Amino acid sequence: IVLYIFAAALGYFLGSVPFGLVLTKLAGTQDIRTIGSGNIGATNVLRTGRKGLAAATLLLDALKGTVAVIIAGSVGGPVPAMIAGLFAFLGHLFPVWLGFKGGKGVAVYIGIMLGLYWPAAVVFCLAWLACAFSSRYSSFSALTASAITPIFLWWAKAPQLAVLATVLSLLLWFMHRENIKRLLNGTEGKIGAKN
Ligand code: G3P
Repeated sequence: IVLYIFAAALGYFLGSVPFGLVLTKLAGTQDIRTIGSGNIGATNVLRTGRKGLAAATLLLDALKGTVAVIIAGSVGGPVPAMIAGLFAFLGHLFPVWLGFKGGKGVAVYIGIMLGLYWPAAVVFCLAWLACAFSSRYSSFSALTASAITPIFLWWAKAPQLAVLATVLSLLLWFMHRENIKRLLNGTEGKIGAKN
């Protein structure tokens, strides 16, 4: 039980570091919470026009999930690794430091899967890229990729990971509820556009 609490605390703490906000503050851009969608993720960092910062946000937000999973996994094995992944996701979505207003979970989802079972991260990324190239919608691509990933994990006979991924995907969809409304009424901003 101590191990589970350690995994949860480690995951939450790492997950709650808002790299998009930290990097844009360091770079001295406008507060990303006041531009575009107001989100702290890489898609919205891109709306500042700073591609390097957006890429760094994507990478670091992903890696915090990977690192949480790998540390907890090497100390306690597969169950603590999954607990750390879940709590890294919750930490990113609901960071105590930002009044529980965090990101939408796309990058950290990829990072968690990379640490737990890398083929699932590859499937997520390929689905995201295929959708993004055809639609130019970051949110739609994330919604699609997150719907496919749990199905892939069932198919790959990894039922525990499939359950975890289903929980993460449901949370991801919930965090994208405003994006879903905008997609449905045709007002969602496309990748690279400023709105
Ligand atoms: O990862 C977030 C992306 O799916 C949507 O971002 O800023 O357009 O709400 P945003």
